Amino acid sequence: MEKTVNNKVNLQEQVRKLKEQKNAVILAHYYQEPEIQEVADFIGDSLELAKKAAQTTADIIVFAGVHFMAETAKILNPSKKVLLPDLKAGCSLADSCPPDAFRKLKEKYPDHAVVTYINCSAEIKTLSDIVCTSSNAERIINSIPKEKPIIFAPDKNLGRYLMEKTGRKMLLWDGACIVHEAFSLDKLLEVYKQHPSAMIIAHPESEDHILKVANYVGSTSGMLHYVKSSEHDTFIVATEAGILYQMQKDVPHKTLIPAPAKEDNTCACSECAFMKMNTLQKLYNCLKNEDPEIILEKELMEKAHKPIKKMMELS
Ligand code: 13P
Ligand code: SF4
Repeated sequence: MEKTVNNKVNLQEQVRKLKEQKNAVILAHYYQEPEIQEVADFIGDSLELAKKAAQTTADIIVFAGVHFMAETAKILNPSKKVLLPDLKAGCSLADSCPPDAFRKLKEKYPDHAVVTYINCSAEIKTLSDIVCTSSNAERIINSIPKEKPIIFAPDKNLGRYLMEKTGRKMLLWDGACIVHEAFSLDKLLEVYKQHPSAMIIAHPESEDHILKVANYVGSTSGMLHYVKSSEHDTFIVATEAGILYQMQKDVPHKTLIPAPAKEDNTCACSECAFMKMNTLQKLYNCLKNEDPEIILEKELMEKAHKPIKKMMELS
């Protein structure tokens, strides 16, 4: 046990030294392991991290998150080196939207504006008019002229939620996140019965029946803000379990209960296996070796940059 702790402290020290020597910045998503969050320069949701990536003066960006996030950082900084500790850290939602099939749908509806959630590949972004994240999606949809029909991809749950919020009818791609579709409504209501004063908070990637019972729906940052500013002291949290680390740090006196998953698992919570592919050891290795690196073709980056830039201007 002691050896593990020493190893962690030692690795974190080495990461901090390398970061300094190489003028690197570490951007970490809230779903990363605590030991990664501890060495990060910035921790945030996907929009905040994209903004940090766009503003950084560092020579190297180490993205502790999943592939589409690191790819977005590269598109925003084509001349910088962007590293991802494990290139296999993908996203089930991004994978649910293959470019060829999406291109066919777009061709069938040439008069539609295409709004894509940032959880998609760079190639899908090249087919988009504008990108959005869970924090700005409502604003982005509202920015599109009322008479213009919309295709929204790839998350059908976020799409359905946005249709209700904005009153806009949209053509939805049939994609979803395996982590957020894993929550069990029955089990959640059982937990709620035991904690009737709890507030239920959920990420909009969750299924409709979970969102319907939630007191608050928002991005990871939105949820953190809600828990901090709320007068309530117990929360049932329906998103990836990694967020609980930062949340509990922010509100040490409050009770946070992870929303239960349909499948029985030891922590009764949901973890994103892709996010968890990044480990402290892999983070250290990638900073030391400057590999694996995100490499994208110039033309792809230029095309994908346009809808991301539009989103940034509206955020
Ligand atoms: P955020 O926009 O809240 O960071 O969510 C990203 C994500 O992948 C949620 O599963
Ligand atoms: Fe993708 Fe879901 Fe993991 Fe978020 S939690 S990165 S949407 S698989």
